[in-house]
Amino acid sequence: MRIDIITVLLELLQSPFEHSIMKRAQAKGLLEVYTHNLRKWAINKQGQIDDYQFGGGAGMVMMPEPLTNAIEELSSQRKYDEIIFLTPDGETLNQKIANGLSLKENLLLICGHYKGIDQRIREHFVTKEISIGDYVLSGGELAAAVLVDAVGRLLPGVLNDETSALFDSFQDNLLAPPVYTRPADFRGWKVPDVLLSGDPKKVDEWRHEQSLQRTIERRPGLLDD
Ligand code: 6GU
Repeated sequence: MRIDIITVLLELLQSPFEHSIMKRAQAKGLLEVYTHNLRKWAINKQGQIDDYQFGGGAGMVMMPEPLTNAIEELSSQRKYDEIIFLTPDGETLNQKIANGLSLKENLLLICGHYKGIDQRIREHFVTKEISIGDYVLSGGELAAAVLVDAVGRLLPGVLNDETSALFDSFQDNLLAPPVYTRPADFRGWKVPDVLLSGDPKKVDEWRHEQSLQRTIERRPGLLDD
């Protein structure tokens, strides 16, 4: 999968993909992430990409021209399956959306700033609008990093058996069960006996029960789906 990201803050999108699973996904050639500085398509030598909003009001709006030129130039090089605008008024990201996006070949992400981007870009180019939750971030970059991570780790071959996505919280609408490691007794706080029993069937049953119980206590709404 190839993911292109249009941003005004390249620096915010460097480190998130240089470590751990995202690093491995790229090293294995399963994921490519390219960031593009929107200033490259600025309307003048001052690097202008935003302007005041019509109708008045505080906050700048990202202009249609630089975004259009960026989107059209990138789109002429490959066909994007989705052009995604990261915005707090988009559809809230969940595991199902991440699963769906992980099946695509090419994604183009657009990070907004200031008051957002001119509505005409959303109407004429954007095919999906995604939020990462009901709170406001200063820009779309951190949300884009979250989206790339959530999608990238699902690509076949990225995770190994030990990190398998099959056991993640949400993958089956259940939260993950509690986990323990050595020592079996730490300060008198004991690991549940069943985990030390050596009986894989009992362990599986216990984990499933714990998953259910956690989901009922913490996120009962997940069970409605
Ligand atoms: Cl995608 N962008 C911004 N600016 N804030 C957010 C968000 C996105 N998702 C949640 N809050």
